[in-house]
Parts: sequence; C-alpha cells; structure tokens
Amino acid sequence: MGETDRERWDRRWAAGEQGAGESPDWLGDLPEGLLPRTGRALDVASGSGAVALWLARRGLDVTAVDVSPVGLQRAARAAGEAGLVLRTRTVDLESDPLPHPDSGADSGPEAGWDVVTCFHYLQRALFPALAAALAPGGRLVCEIATVRNLERNARPPARFLLDEDELPTLCAPLEVAWFRQGWYEDRAVARIVARKV
Ligand SMILES: C[S@@+](CC[C@H](N)C(=O)[O-])C[C@H]1O[C@@H](n2cnc3c(N)ncnc32)[C@H](O)[C@@H]1O
Repeated sequence: MGETDRERWDRRWAAGEQGAGESPDWLGDLPEGLLPRTGRALDVASGSGAVALWLARRGLDVTAVDVSPVGLQRAARAAGEAGLVLRTRTVDLESDPLPHPDSGADSGPEAGWDVVTCFHYLQRALFPALAAALAPGGRLVCEIATVRNLERNARPPARFLLDEDELPTLCAPLEVAWFRQGWYEDRAVARIVARKV
C-alpha cells in the first residue's frame, strides 16, 4: 500500500521541513482594510503553522487544520513558545467537513469565519466549501504556486500547480478584492484576497 498524504506529511514535518508559506509577510503589505485585525480565522492545510501564527500575531483568533498531526504539533509548540493562542484540528480536507467557528454570541445561520487562508495546498474541489465557510464580508486569502514555477523549480509537481489566471475563477462567486501573480523569492505564485459579499 502506498504512503498516505498524512504519513508523507508527518514524515516531512517530523524531519524539520520548512513550510512553503514560511514567510507570509506580504499579508502585512496589503492595503489597509483588506485583511481584518480581529475576528476568527481558519488556516487550512496549515502544516507547521507559519500562516496561522502570523494571523494570531496580528490579533486574530485562529484555528489551524491539517491532515498531519505532526505538522499541527509543531504549530502548537511554536504558538506556545511565542505566547500565542492557536487551536488545531486534524482534518482530512478530501473527506471531512470544514470546522465551524466555535459557537458564540454571533453564531447562527450567518456565522462563519472572518478569514479563511489556504497557502500552498491545491484541491480545486475544495473552493466552494472555503467560500461557504466565510461569514458575510469574510475574506478568503490564498497563495498557491502556478505552472510557471516549473520553469525554475521541479517541485511541487504540475498536479499541485494553478494555471495562470486560474485562481480568481476558482474563488467565484467571491468578489476579488486584490490579486497578483508572478515571481516572488524565486517561486511563481498566485496570491488573492477574495471577499464574500
Ligand atoms: C505544501 S504544505 C503547505 C503548508 C502551509 N500551508 C504552508 O504554506 O507552509 C501542504 C500541506 O497540506 C497538507 N495536506 C495534504 N493533504 C491534505 C488533506 N487531504 N487534508 C488536509 N491537509 C492536507 C499537508 O499535510 C501539508 O501540511
């Protein structure tokens, strides 16, 4: 039997692999108002949690989900060392539903995440669920490599790469608030902030 995604990523995170989204600093350079400073955020395919930790540092109340418990343990440890609060949940994004925000005063039919982030994980069929998980006005924020990345880097393989200009289409019916694609630190990526109207 082949190695499962969970086994493969557990092994990679246990070996100390750095996450592709290890420096999500461009989030801090977004125009003021595009990315909330408060509210509840869900980071999917969080890995060792670099994006989740960045959001927690910003002031958001963050839940990190991933199929790899080892990655999530690294994220939780790093959060503890930094004095940040981070919830983690082991979730297989190919078969499990996305978690809802913890119930609170504002939970109800309109409840949802204020921010959902997805960095360097491409499962096209997941996008409708990512959009549905947002609260009204919530933001979906993604960074995913594009096929042009193969011009300089052998990994990730083509099946994990976006076509050029594909990301805004995947985010529909969300409204594209900000979109860029190009070479950043020798990787070709697409970056988006899309808003639920
Ligand atoms: C390239 S890493 C990206 C990690 C992090 N978002 C970053 O940018 O550094 C891909 C992540 O997707 C996770 N993953 C792969 N398949 C998954 C699945 N079916 N469900 C949940 N997570 C999955 C892996 O465990 C891994 O942590």
